[in-house]
Amino acid sequence: VRMPVSFTVNGERRELELDARTTLLDALREHLKLTGTKKGCDHGQCGACTVIVGGRRMNSCLSLAVMHQNDEITTIEGLGKPDALHPMQAAFVRHDGYQCGYCTPGQIVSAVAVLDEIGAGIPSHVQADVAAAPEASEPEMRERMSGNICRCGAYSNIVEAMRDVAG
Ligand code: FES
Repeated sequence: VRMPVSFTVNGERRELELDARTTLLDALREHLKLTGTKKGCDHGQCGACTVIVGGRRMNSCLSLAVMHQNDEITTIEGLGKPDALHPMQAAFVRHDGYQCGYCTPGQIVSAVAVLDEIGAGIPSHVQADVAAAPEASEPEMRERMSGNICRCGAYSNIVEAMRDVAG
């Protein structure tokens, strides 16, 4: 069954008519040619397909595109451009937060969302302390990033990049 769906991706309104079984990941990659978002496992286990939907990160391989009517979706392409990197992208470069790079878009999208989550989860007067002492929240960063798998094992550099942005 084909169904129409309309959502906003990286600030741009997109209208598609898709097989109702198309995942959000395939809609982004195959139909909108936004191939920054990666397909690792296609089963919700690796995090390579992470995107932000309505301010919350999700594995786009686990969601049907037609369920996202009118949603606001941000992919890695929406965070920064090669000549104007998002601070998290720049920090990944500075700290070598990748090796082969395949998981990197998902790691960066997730890392951006995690810092928002950590900030949103505590009272504003405490947030300043967290920013001043980023090591205090490192275990929580690691825990919240645990759904993003890196087979090269760049985890410590990824956390360094996150601490850099948080601090
Ligand atoms: Fe979606 Fe692995 S491709 S979690």
